[in-house]
Amino acid sequence: MKVKVDLERCQGHTLCAMRAPDVFELDDVDGHSSPVSEEVPADQEAKVLEAVRSCPERAISVS
Ligand code: F3S
Repeated sequence: MKVKVDLERCQGHTLCAMRAPDVFELDDVDGHSSPVSEEVPADQEAKVLEAVRSCPERAISVS
């Protein structure tokens, strides 16, 4: 699974990093989220899907 965050949509709600702290990191300055790596480890996939559902801006996509 691959994950992307659309920085145009991300408003720094931080829910993604709460759901999957090993996958998403938040920028110290603007609070925008980005994946540590585009490739999601198999044991993190369920958490990433939770993050997709929890983002109010629908900024996270997986493929
Ligand atoms: Fe951004 Fe959504 Fe996470 S708005 S910080 S991608 S919960």
